[in-house]
Amino acid sequence: MPIDLTTEEEQLLESDVPAERKSMELLVRLGDIFGAEEFVEIGSAQASGISYKSIGDPGVEFLEGFAEEGAEVDVETFANPAGMDINRWEEMGVSEEFARQQRRIVGALREMGVTVSFTCTPYLAGNLPGPNEHIAWAESSAVSFANSVIGARTNREGGPSALAAAITGRTPKHGLHLAENRQPTHLVNVDVPLETQADFAALGSWTGRIVEDGKPYFAGIESATTDQLKSLGAAMAATGAVALHFVGGLTTDADPPDNVETLQFGSEKHESEYAELSSTEDTDLIVFGCPHSSVDEIGTVADRLEGESLERDLWVCTSRSVKSQADRMGYTDTIEDAGGMVLSDTCNVVAPIEELGYESTATDSAKAASYLPGFGDQLVHFDDKLSLLEEAIE
Ligand code: F3S
Repeated sequence: MPIDLTTEEEQLLESDVPAERKSMELLVRLGDIFGAEEFVEIGSAQASGISYKSIGDPGVEFLEGFAEEGAEVDVETFANPAGMDINRWEEMGVSEEFARQQRRIVGALREMGVTVSFTCTPYLAGNLPGPNEHIAWAESSAVSFANSVIGARTNREGGPSALAAAITGRTPKHGLHLAENRQPTHLVNVDVPLETQADFAALGSWTGRIVEDGKPYFAGIESATTDQLKSLGAAMAATGAVALHFVGGLTTDADPPDNVETLQFGSEKHESEYAELSSTEDTDLIVFGCPHSSVDEIGTVADRLEGESLERDLWVCTSRSVKSQADRMGYTDTIEDAGGMVLSDTCNVVAPIEELGYESTATDSAKAASYLPGFGDQLVHFDDKLSLLEEAIE
């Protein structure tokens, strides 16, 4: 049965503004494919496909053309990371041509009214949805955090569908927008203590590979920081397609599931996951901030680097708004005095890292460790932050 349309939705479908009409046509098609009965209004959107590295010349032309066709967002819409720090691209070593094309993308987004936030942690940078709020976010780690930690409701949108939702202010109501689809599918018993963000990332990476697009429920995790939960979800969204998970007692309510596949995660699997994510010990760049760092994570790095000097490059990636707090706390100066860089707007995966002379990267992010070999042509060393810094201090 075709999706039901309100009068306003019928009008969007007949709109004289081509971008509005095309957006609504796309969403109606998607709604029909997924069997949605109606649309739901959204509180915010998050657009992906922002880096010139990811979308190339066709993407630049599409976005500029769409802006010319009258595309204008109807709800608060944050942008995912770009391919460079908009202010410090020359220091990163990004080429002028790349920067020129990236700036065209920035211009098109601004013309559409997209907040040029360039972050994958919008919830740390001023776009925090409420529990049960319907949203249309595209970045998989942010989708996981929004569904699982905040309790908002979003599917894993693609770049075009998130933009269409932003322009029309609505999305087809299916998948994770419906309460009946937000139930655990697997029980994961964790019987090894998780101490660092990398430990949580390793658990997520192992689980995502097994449950794929399932909704795991973790039992046995007694406490976790927001940053640790961020790393857990990002990893599962990268090695699998997990968009919602539960950590018993810590995240959004769900009862421990009965009659589902049960998995055990103990010390052997924990150790072997570290090995699984690493292909070298010898690296020329360390990157933290996948997903984008909180001010607390930046503070941890700064504390360890106080008065030290690094023998290899270090990028700490974050949103511009979190960086301004790190600047005020003196963290940025401490890290940069030691030889690192605190970068905004971008990340190690969507920046053209392979063109900047780097061949091997160290990271505490399982998502980065999974993506960098294919997307950045990198060998990878995966370990926790403090161990990686220890190895890099002269
Ligand atoms: Fe964010 Fe880039 Fe990682 S977009 S989640 S820092 S790959």
